[in-house]
Amino acid sequence: MIQLVGVIGSGTMGNGIAQTFAQRGFGVRLVDVSAAALERARTTIGKSLGKFVEKGTLSAADRDETLARLSFHGSIDALADADYVVEAIIEQRDAKRALFARLDALVRPEVVLASNTSSISITDIGAVTTRPAQVLGMHFMNPVPLMPLVELIRGHSTSDASMALAEDLCRQLGKTGIAASDYPGFIANRILMPMINEAVFALMEGVGTAEAIDSVMKLGMNHPMGPLTLADFIGLDVCVAILDVLHQGLGDPKYRACPLLRRMVAAGQLGRKSGRGFYQYA
Ligand code: CAA
Repeated sequence: MIQLVGVIGSGTMGNGIAQTFAQRGFGVRLVDVSAAALERARTTIGKSLGKFVEKGTLSAADRDETLARLSFHGSIDALADADYVVEAIIEQRDAKRALFARLDALVRPEVVLASNTSSISITDIGAVTTRPAQVLGMHFMNPVPLMPLVELIRGHSTSDASMALAEDLCRQLGKTGIAASDYPGFIANRILMPMINEAVFALMEGVGTAEAIDSVMKLGMNHPMGPLTLADFIGLDVCVAILDVLHQGLGDPKYRACPLLRRMVAAGQLGRKSGRGFYQYA
C-alpha cells in the first residue's frame, strides 16, 4: 500500500504534484537541492490551498491537514523509506538518468519510480536502473491541482503491474491516467507543440496579431487559453526544448521550432516566468 510519496524537484510541476498527493491523504516528502526553491514551493502550495478554501471546495481543517502531511527536504536521502517516487527535476536527460541511478540504489527494490518528464524517453531513464519494469512516466499537466489528466508512459520494459498501480494512484488523486507509448513527446506534446509552433509561424508571417490568433482559438475552438498565451504559460524555452525532442526523435521537418520562437528564447523572453513573452506580464 502506498502511504509515503517522495517528490523530487520543487518547481511549478513538483510543488503541484506534492500538493495534489498531500490533498488526497498521502504523506509527501518534497525534495529539492535549493532551499530557496523549497521555500517558494511552500508559499505556492499555501496560496493554491487558500484559493480552494476561498472557493469553499476545501475546508480550513483539510488545508491544515494537507500542510501537515507535507515535509520539505534538501536531499533524496529523505526518501529511503518512500513507497512511491515522482521525479520532477529539470528536463535534462543526463540529470534525470543520474538521479534515477541514485534513487535505484536508495529506495526499496519493489518501489515504482515515476518521472514527470514531458518528452524524455522513459526507456532511456529506466535503463540506468536495476528495475526498468518499475520505471514509468507520470506526466502531470500544469496547473497540477486543477488539471484532470495524467499521461502515463510505458517504457519499453515497464510492467503491466506498474502501469496498473500508477493508474490506480491517478484515480485516488481524482485524476484520469491515460496510457501512452514511449515515443518522442508521447501524446500530449506530440499534438500540443505543433499547434503552438504553428501559431508562432502564423504570428511571424503576419497572418494575425497575437491577440487575433489567441482569440480565434478561444472563441472558435473553445480553448480556455489561446496557443500563444499557453506558450507563455508553459515557458517558451520549454516549448523549444520539446520541439527539438520531437524534431530529433521523429526526424520530420514539420516539427522544427519556428525561428521566431527560438529568437525570443535567445532574447530571454521566456513567457510569464521572465515577465515577457508574446505578452507582457507585470
Ligand atoms: N490552484 C488552485 N486554484 C487555481 C490555481 C491553482 N494552482 N490556478 C488557478 N486557480 C483557480 C483560480 O483562482 C480561478 O478561481 P475562480 O474561478 O474562483 O476565480 C480558477 O482557477 C480559474 O482561473 P483563472 O480565472 O485565473 O483563469 P482561467 O479561467 O483561464 O483558468 C486555467 C485557468 C485552469 C489554467 C485555464 O486557463 C486552463 O485550463 N488553461 C489551459 C491549461 C493547459 O492547457 N495546461 C496544460 C499545459 S501543457 C502541460 O502542462 C504539459 C507540458 O508538458 C507542456
